[in-house]
Amino acid sequence: MINPHGSDTLNPRIVEDSARADLERKATELPSIIVSSSAAASAVMLASGYFTPCDGFMSLDTALSVATNMKFPKTGLLWPTPIMNIVQKKDLPENIQAGTQLSLLDPNVPGNPILAVQDITEVHELSDADRSTIIENVFGTTDPNHPGVATLLSMGDTLLAGPIQVFNYSYFAADFPETFHTAGQIRDEIHSRGWETIVAFQTRNPMHRAHEELCRMAQQAVAADGILIHMLLGKLKAGDIPADVRDASIRKMVELYFPENSVMVTGYGFDMMYAGPREAVLHAIFRQNAGCTHLIVGRDHAGVGDYYGAFDAQTIFDDIPDSALEIEIYRGDHTAWSKKLNKVVMFRDVPDHSPVDFLNLSGSKVREMLAAGQTLPPEFARPEVAEILSAHYQKESIKSVSYTHLTLPTSDLV
Ligand code: ADX
Repeated sequence: MINPHGSDTLNPRIVEDSARADLERKATELPSIIVSSSAAASAVMLASGYFTPCDGFMSLDTALSVATNMKFPKTGLLWPTPIMNIVQKKDLPENIQAGTQLSLLDPNVPGNPILAVQDITEVHELSDADRSTIIENVFGTTDPNHPGVATLLSMGDTLLAGPIQVFNYSYFAADFPETFHTAGQIRDEIHSRGWETIVAFQTRNPMHRAHEELCRMAQQAVAADGILIHMLLGKLKAGDIPADVRDASIRKMVELYFPENSVMVTGYGFDMMYAGPREAVLHAIFRQNAGCTHLIVGRDHAGVGDYYGAFDAQTIFDDIPDSALEIEIYRGDHTAWSKKLNKVVMFRDVPDHSPVDFLNLSGSKVREMLAAGQTLPPEFARPEVAEILSAHYQKESIKSVSYTHLTLPTSDLV
């Protein structure tokens, strides 16, 4: 099987059973802090082996090197996005400095239970210049309206570096018991199915006909034994479809439209960064860690708004030396329903088509149709998928009507 990134073995930072009772006892006596959702999600990715070979939160030097050069400073190992625990200085317990330990509390679980213990190796107040360097390089913009930039800006002023040991997978294992998988679990499953070539599909959205066909085309092109649909289960920006609805619709599509045992439907516990090209490289690394040989990168992968070019998340791989990454990228062109051919096609395969020959519905048009209770065209979405999405939107619109009368000031009613 393909090696994990930069290592012969996975490095899941989950506490081993033999050490659990002792560390749990100790953790309750340590000073503690509620971390950001982003840091908690990074802890879950570290715990589940996806961030192999990393062992915890990066120092400022490492974060700057990763942001500016996509490399760890000493080893030169490829890494595209800083893994940071940034907190507000005013919330930091006294005497936290290099050499101390800190319990990290989960912001996403009621009661804020202990998620992890961090060995602090560095406490660094972030200068505006350092923060801007990181943001500009990772997101390609400093616009505070970019959802990833906004999240990073909201985190605080102090960076805590150091390795972590993580107790659990936060809310992901409990809320998505069938779908949440660690990298090790996926590797085991791939092994037991006897698959050798596996193409991964990253998604944060429900899958429509174009996505379904993109997976089939990629599977055929790389002669894959199977497809790993690997969905993000963490936080999204307002308006994106929640993970449980997306999960249900993807499972239905796989059940009805893919041959049995040809697809694994799984998910990982991370918040969306919307970092486009940089996030695509991270996606490739953690699919390699999960044992996949290929990752599909299509149009506007991990993008948001107009911040990135439609294929920037593909061209970023042109500058990455072959030796830096073992997983390969399947580059998908824009894919849509052809009204001429009555099937889903990739634009590069139909040079005779012009824009009017494709059925193209924007995300906002789809949301508008669902909210209005209209049926999505079967050329765009499988009817069974559309039904699940429509039920969600109808519920949401009923909710927003009742909120309208109860609490919200009119300025929030957009
Ligand atoms: S992502 O932010 O998680 O990457 P999304 O779930 O929308 O976004 O897309 C999943 C994958 O499908 C990405 O690789 C994306 O580039 C690709 N993709 C989505 N829609 C299309 C399309 N119409 N044509 C080609 N690729 C697409």
